[in-house]
Amino acid sequence: MLLELGIWSGAAYLLHRSLFSPLTDKQKIEQVFENIKFGFKDKLPKHCFTHENNDVVIYSYHIPPGLTNASTLEEALTIVFDRPVKVELRSVLKIKVYKENLKEKYKYESQKLESWNVPIGLSLDGMIYHDFDKIPHMIVAGATRWGKTAFFKMMLTSLIENHPNDVEFYVLDLKGGLAFHRYSTLKQVKVVASNYKESAVALKQIEKDIQKTMKEFKRNFHENILDTNITNRKFIFIDEAGELVPDKSMSDADKKHAATCQRIMSHIVRVSGGLGYRMIFGTQYPTAKIMDNQIKANSSAKISFRLETSIQSKVAIDEPGAEKLPYPGRAIYRTTDRHLVQTPYISNKDMWNRLRRYEESASTRKETDERGENLVTFG
Ligand SMILES: Nc1ncnc2c1ncn2[C@@H]1O[C@H](COP(=O)(O)OP(=O)(O)OP(=O)(O)O)[C@@H](O)[C@H]1O
Ligand SMILES: [Mg+2]
Repeated sequence: MLLELGIWSGAAYLLHRSLFSPLTDKQKIEQVFENIKFGFKDKLPKHCFTHENNDVVIYSYHIPPGLTNASTLEEALTIVFDRPVKVELRSVLKIKVYKENLKEKYKYESQKLESWNVPIGLSLDGMIYHDFDKIPHMIVAGATRWGKTAFFKMMLTSLIENHPNDVEFYVLDLKGGLAFHRYSTLKQVKVVASNYKESAVALKQIEKDIQKTMKEFKRNFHENILDTNITNRKFIFIDEAGELVPDKSMSDADKKHAATCQRIMSHIVRVSGGLGYRMIFGTQYPTAKIMDNQIKANSSAKISFRLETSIQSKVAIDEPGAEKLPYPGRAIYRTTDRHLVQTPYISNKDMWNRLRRYEESASTRKETDERGENLVTFG
């Protein structure tokens, strides 16, 4: 009788507790340790301290040696909290429980940035930047309508705002030039190529320019632009490299132009980073055919918007996950680190309002072209 009473009162206590005093976040974490057996027998992680700021609560635990499966723990905690959770497993286990999800949209704002940094996006831990002087080339992957062109435009805006007199752009806009045509009159935008022939001509000129720069570097015993006082940089934007793969539907002439483009893009990533050229290679379809080994191996920064399959994600960023990104502009950015970000969005109108002051009249551009200053070497 007494025993029965005890069981009932125990159950009533548990029921009362689950109904009226929900578990604290710390208790939830510890229950997850038990449930997924994150530890060894009776050796579970031991709480040592908790730290809180505006955005996140960080729970730190001492761990028994030998624990490894942080990703399973992260996955389980994310489900339990229904909010972002990050697990860092080093000598101490840190569990970061964020107070809010990443924003679904994040508006571009002008920022004064050091070196050749551009904003990549807002992560749970703050803004992430990419320095093109540290990593010259980048791959931008993403299925149609998930944010590649908007990302190119945001980078173009930020680079012009920060380096109006030192940056040059060569844009291959193979969807007929529709996305970048409007910016072709900016003084920093030297070429907007909108078909195979124009793309091949632009890339051939860049190739020549690279050779000339190389000679100058040799003559002056420069190994890398970072060792010189040369301040300008040349960005080659390829918005949809998939269009540059020769295929049966193309005319013979276009096939030839596309093959030329592929050869030169591969050459650019191999030799030109140290000379001050930066190639950003965008594609909807990350396949070995479109992104050859040289491009993959020499682009140590990769960003992917949503892709169709985990296999594509592995080709683009060396890990699955891009196939699950939920919103346009949400991306995984990988260098040696990995960040989930919401890239800053800039509308065409806002972009034009910021950049229109750099517009050059047709006659000034013509004069510049005639003097052959479009593609001269640095200096
Ligand atoms: N950073 C962002 N934040 C919020 N919305 C975005 C962002 N980037 C893009 N979008 C939305 O997604 C739409 C498609 O973006 P975008 O044109 O850049 O796609 P895309 O990847 O270039 O597509 P495609 O491969 O077909 O050219 C935009 O018109 C905009 O509405
Ligand atoms: Mg696009």
